Amino acid sequence: MADKKAKDDTTQNMGKSFTLTDNQSGKQYNLPVIEGSTGPDVIDVRRLYADTDHFTYDPGFTSTGSCESKVTFIDGDKGILRYRGFDINDLAEHSDFMGICYLLLYGELPNKDQKKKFVHDVTYHTLLQEQISVFYQGFRRDSHPMAIMCGVVGALSAFYHDSTDINNPRHRMIASYRLIAKMPTIAAYAYKYSIGQPFVYPRNDLKYSENFLHMMYATPCEDYKVNPVLARAMDRILILHADHEQNASTSTVRLAGSSGANPFACIAAGIASLWGPAHGGANEAVLNMLEEIGSKDRIPEFIKRAKDKDDPFRLMGFGHRVYKNYDPRAKVMEHTCHEVLDELGVKDEPLLELAMELERIALEDEYFVAKKLYPNVDFYSGIIFRAMGIPTSMFTVLFAVARTVGWVAQWNEMIEDPSQKIGRPRQLYTGHTKRKYVPLHARV
Ligand code: ACO
Repeated sequence: MADKKAKDDTTQNMGKSFTLTDNQSGKQYNLPVIEGSTGPDVIDVRRLYADTDHFTYDPGFTSTGSCESKVTFIDGDKGILRYRGFDINDLAEHSDFMGICYLLLYGELPNKDQKKKFVHDVTYHTLLQEQISVFYQGFRRDSHPMAIMCGVVGALSAFYHDSTDINNPRHRMIASYRLIAKMPTIAAYAYKYSIGQPFVYPRNDLKYSENFLHMMYATPCEDYKVNPVLARAMDRILILHADHEQNASTSTVRLAGSSGANPFACIAAGIASLWGPAHGGANEAVLNMLEEIGSKDRIPEFIKRAKDKDDPFRLMGFGHRVYKNYDPRAKVMEHTCHEVLDELGVKDEPLLELAMELERIALEDEYFVAKKLYPNVDFYSGIIFRAMGIPTSMFTVLFAVARTVGWVAQWNEMIEDPSQKIGRPRQLYTGHTKRKYVPLHARV
């Protein structure tokens, strides 16, 4: 898709329109077409119900643009992903996660001074209110850390009354910084709680990813030095997951926020949505699947199952609603996977070998080729996490840590959007028509 000329106000009808004909009455309706800067134009159906007495029907929003956004662009057919106009590969290679956070929140890459101030200001919020630590005690030790994340992040809404006037841009930014800064602390505490170790406080002399690894693996008993290669790999993984336009969890955050709800509660809603195996839970599911497959000779059996309509099994880490090409993040992830395994001296990791063979076979299989099913970002991330010693149940938690900046950037954009309204989809009703109430004694 060629880049189109940038416009100042994309909500203005540029004169193009789309004609809809009602075959029964012969009436024609002109629907305005709105052009974006890149990517498909959209047909503006806002007046459709008022003019035609019809709704549109689009379960799963496969053809529906729910909002205008300037944050992230995806061309799924070509395998393109850009944050604020910059290709993901360039960002993953040259930036660090804090630079990406600034870019997503403010729309531009920071200069040296802006970056320094931003890192300082975010880092200042890494500590959790001591009372929040008490929340953890209420969870069973074997709770899934995503359940803990939902609970603790939701609970933050009870702590910050001072900064949650969502109509105040400064308050919104403070809430955003707090969320970005505290998520690694909340995530690492969830892990420490599950293994019965004491919480390790954040260290503000460390960089974002270093600090996270330190909180995960340090104990009060001995010194823990963060491996810079692993910290860089973690940073890259965070960059790759930072935003992905209007996916399920981001749309959940926007929908929750559209009612004017508290931002911490909205992010908790996003975490809940992310948890599902069709979304952020897929990297956990990939590893479980690889373990279930066990050996290369069993791959054909699982490929056969994935293709069987009567079998609910799907090849996890394969396929994407938007990408009908290689997910650009999967390539960087595969490269990072090799880097991490080399650094850790892991030779011939059986799961990596299995994953690569599974990918090779699937990419040559007619079913996967015809349906354009390629590896997605989750296919390799689980293997990296496992090599780093991160337990499977924490995989989706790391995704939530990374995606928080995307959620808050999109939430801020939504609140600033003058056309923003409470999200309220309509439906195609296929239930009973009006019925007469039958008293209990008269029912058969
Ligand atoms: N294995 C086997 N078949 C698949 C797979 C798969 N992984 N993914 C899609 N298909 C098939 C479907 O059965 C369907 O076939 P049909 O046309 O014969 O009915 C066709 O491909 C289209 O699939 P849909 O489910 O309609 O596509 P949708 O866009 O709704 O789903 C999704 C996308 C949920 C990601 C899907 O591909 C999937 O379940 N993948 C596995 C889970 C996964 O890896 N999720 C992570 C996504 S990335 C992320 O969230 C970060």
